[in-house]
Parts: sequence; structure tokens; C-alpha cells
Amino acid sequence: MVCFMTDEVQGDARLAQHRHLATEIPGPRSRELLARREGVVARGVSHVLPVFVTDAGGGVLLDVDGNSLIDFGAGIAVVSVGNAAPRVAARVAEQAARFTHTCFMVTPYESYVEVCEELARRTPGSYEKRSALFNSGAEAVENAVKIARHATGRQAVVAFDHAYHGRTNLTMALTAKNMPYKDKFGPFAGEIYRMPMAYPLRWPGGREACQANALDTVKSLIHTQVGEDNVAAVIIEPIQGEGGFVVPPDGFLPGLADFCREHGIVFIADEIQTGFCRTGDWFACEHENVVPDLVTTAKGIAGGLPLAGVTGRAEIMDSVHVGGLGGTYGGNPIACAAALGAIETMAAEDLAGKARRIADIMLPRLHGLAEKYPVIADVRGRGAMLAIELTKPGTLDPDPATTAAVSRACHQAGLVTLTCGTFGNVIRFLPPLVIGEDLLNEGLSILEDAFAAV
Ligand SMILES: Cc1ncc(COP(=O)(O)O)c(C=O)c1O
Repeated sequence: MVCFMTDEVQGDARLAQHRHLATEIPGPRSRELLARREGVVARGVSHVLPVFVTDAGGGVLLDVDGNSLIDFGAGIAVVSVGNAAPRVAARVAEQAARFTHTCFMVTPYESYVEVCEELARRTPGSYEKRSALFNSGAEAVENAVKIARHATGRQAVVAFDHAYHGRTNLTMALTAKNMPYKDKFGPFAGEIYRMPMAYPLRWPGGREACQANALDTVKSLIHTQVGEDNVAAVIIEPIQGEGGFVVPPDGFLPGLADFCREHGIVFIADEIQTGFCRTGDWFACEHENVVPDLVTTAKGIAGGLPLAGVTGRAEIMDSVHVGGLGGTYGGNPIACAAALGAIETMAAEDLAGKARRIADIMLPRLHGLAEKYPVIADVRGRGAMLAIELTKPGTLDPDPATTAAVSRACHQAGLVTLTCGTFGNVIRFLPPLVIGEDLLNEGLSILEDAFAAV
């Protein structure tokens, strides 16, 4: 049995905030459960790390074999407030004991309205807003597109290379990457037009050319290939998530928003991964004072309960006829209770500030790694949404094999890391924002050891 340093109990008082390896990863009980799952769960639903979890909180995940792992994934940017965060858990328990569902479209309840009030208050833009609540990020994106088409009477939707917007039919069409998201799942929804993304590392001619030309290139392609007057919406992640944590150069997002405004195009910011304090602001658009017409939210909004939203200009949202939006479970009362607990936690504990602090700790160490290992071609991201991109040294040829090997070494040492990127060559870091600093530093040391070992 190996037991490592104990952290201060930060972020979660229920669980010891330390890494502890009782078995190999995955351990025997997890392997048993994995074999059982193979007999009944579809293989298309995969795992990053097949340890079966029993408890989680702060910056750790506990598994069925008695291991305590450091969490740099937060359930893919969901449990920013920590797992089973006290305010979330208390509100969920209280709501579950009172009523679990009525369907907001049948008989409404106050918490749905309160969540929409919070969304109006917290999302960028001081204009009058309306929101509608859904169950998943993909569903929010689908509805944002429905609303934009209805409001403009136009059909075309512009999305970007490396984009990820979900796995439903319309959102698969918006998502760029074929494998594993789209392969043989077509035909896809029509009237989607893909533009090059302002990806500084990979823009032809390099970073400066990206800064100088990306916006004009996109505007020109929209003009020549689609026609501004045909475009209902431009949808973009302010920092791309699954596509590789791609951060566009300064000026790209504001310029795109201006272009949309000029041509009556609805500018949709997909803040599903970036939103709710993850990047050091409540929303990533705030970094450059970009004010979208519609914002899609999910993931971090409700501390792990399924909830998503579309929030935007009242005149766009309310262009839809009565009864045109909704769904049986959208804005479920337990999910709304969780969201109110999560938002209260973010405000009370200044989790945007915590995300910036995480960047202050992580970035110098990630840059140090990049200096030592030329396989790291880029360190990027903002707040607690950070990543490293791995290429064959001195080239832009992606190195997914080293990426997978480093990630695997981290897993075996008890650190949950995720990969992403169109080429599978990006390791991304999304710790819960409440993670203790000792644990964060220990996770980084594991990453350093992993690079030394592979
Ligand atoms: C930017 C973005 N949009 C949409 C989605 C889809 O959300 P969901 O998985 O909740 O459908 C995701 C999920 O990773 C995402 O990162």
C-alpha cells in the first residue's frame, strides 16, 4: 500500500484530500465491474479511466478498491464547485423530499424562474434577456439554432473547424471531428457551413498571420460561399473544448460579433465548457467584452445535475411562438435546485478568482515542462481550462502516441487527466475550482514524472 502526502482539507471536509493508491489502477474490484459492464452496457459508451467511483469531493475521486485519485477532469468541466458540493447536495436533498417533477410546461415552480434570473444577471450583456432551460448541452445548442432560425427567417448556420457542439443529429453536423463523434452516423442536418478556426499554432503562416488574417478570411468565406443575408447564426466556443482548447487571438471574437451585428446574424457563444467561472470570469466572452446575442450553458451550471440553458436577447428569444420551446424534463426542479446551490457557491467562494489562481500555479510549471520537453509545442488556455499540445519536436505533426502514453502514466499514478484535440494530441486540465493547492501541485508533479518516464 502506498500513501502519499496529506493535503489541507480544502474544498471538501467529508473526504481526506489526498492521493492514496491501495492497488494498481484499475484495481481488481474495478476490473470485475468492468467485465460485468461489458455484458450489458453498449461498447460505444467508453471510459477514459475505468475505475468505478464510490465517493468524490474537493479534488479527489475514491474508487471501489480504496484508491483516492486526484481529479484534473471534474467530470469534463462539470463539477467546478466540487463533487457533492455542500450547497448543491443540501438543496437537492431538500427539493427531492418536496417534489421531483411537475413539468414546467404543465405547472411551473419558482426555482426555474430563479435560475433564469441568475442567467440574466450573470451572462454577458446588459440588455433585457430571456432564458429557456433544457437537459444537456447538445439540447441547448439545438434550441439556440432553432431560435436563431425562427428569429431571422434564415437557415444557414456557420460553425468552425475543431468545433464541438454535441452528439445529436444537428449538433453532430455542427461538430467538426469525424472519429469518434460522427463516423457513419449520417446523414447530418443541412445548411451548416464550416469556417477555418483562428488556431494560432496551426494557422498557415503562424501566430502573427492568424492574428492578422483569420477574421478577414472567415468574413470573406461567409460572403463568397454562404452570403451574409442567408446566415441565421454564427456559433462558436470562445475557447474550443473538445477540439483542443484552442484560444483565438485577441480581436477575433469581438470582430466576429461586430460582423454578425452588422449583418443581422445571431451570434451564439457556446459557453457550455467555458462558462460558470471556468476561465477566470463568469463567462469566457467577458475576457474581451464580447456580448453575444445568445449564450448556451450546461456542464458547470448545476454541480453535476443535468441542466442546460439558452439565454439571450428578449426580442430574439421571444420571437418564438408560445409552446415552441420546451421538453418534459427541461429545467427539472432538482436540477434547478442544484444550479442555485452551485451558483451560490461560485459567488460565495469567488470561484472565478480560484480559477485565476489555478492558472497562476499551473502555467509556470506547464511552461517549465515545455522548455524541458520539445514534444510540447504549445501551452494554452485560460483560468482553470489549460492544455498542452504535443507534436513531433520541431514540427506541427501531432503526437497522439506520446499524448496517450503520458496520460496513461498519470492515470497509473493516480491522477485523472483527459485528452482532447482533433488529432488526439492535447492533454487538457480541468480541475474542480475548489481543489486544494497542495493537491494541484502534487498533480503537476505526477505530470512531470510522467513526461520523465515516457
Ligand atoms: C462546447 C460544448 N458544447 C456542447 C457540448 C455538448 O454538451 P452535452 O454533452 O451536455 O450534450 C459540449 C460537451 O462537451 C461542449 O463542450
